Amino acid sequence: MRIEVLQGDITQLEIDAIVNAANSSLLGGGGVDGAIHRAAGPRLLAECYELRGCPTGEAKITKGYRLPAKHVIHTVGPVWDGGTQNEPELLASCYRNSLRLATEHGLQSIAFPSISCGVYGYPLASAAEIATGEVVAFSKEPGSVGRVIFCCFGTDTEEAVRAALRARGIAD
Ligand code: APR
Repeated sequence: MRIEVLQGDITQLEIDAIVNAANSSLLGGGGVDGAIHRAAGPRLLAECYELRGCPTGEAKITKGYRLPAKHVIHTVGPVWDGGTQNEPELLASCYRNSLRLATEHGLQSIAFPSISCGVYGYPLASAAEIATGEVVAFSKEPGSVGRVIFCCFGTDTEEAVRAALRARGIAD
């Protein structure tokens, strides 16, 4: 399994699934959630409406509609509250459940934004450590996913992810 880090707009990626950092309503918002819904068009919201929300740490899959990506995996990250509200485990489960869903659907490529690192205020370095830990652990399991991309929206995010991968002995 290949692990890649790039800086860019996740809505432009032509791959099997992009992950959306949603909120528990799944009815859209700002940040990457807003960008994905704008690019996918109104039918994404219509499908999300049928999903009836998503608890923090879990993930649900939809089609990609007007996006170049075939699917969107919507996951709800924890709001950072100082690390005393089980945030690390909830963030880890966002990555684990998104990867599990991709495997269940036989997908081969998936891209993650930095879940919870925007509006939800999760500290970059800690989030990158959790995200890379889940992806590296997943890479040791058999399954359809052969390519995982960390799609970073800024240099600081990209550097945090690259540093976390290096610390795990992985140069992308
Ligand atoms: N492509 C890739 N990454 C992006 C994009 C994009 N087009 N737009 C934003 N990002 C990055 C942000 O820079 C940040 O690093 O996605 C990361 C997650 O930030 P948010 O989108 O703010 O998501 P999050 O912190 O998980 O907060 C979720 O924000 O938009 C609302 O509805 C959403 O209520 C939910 C909350």
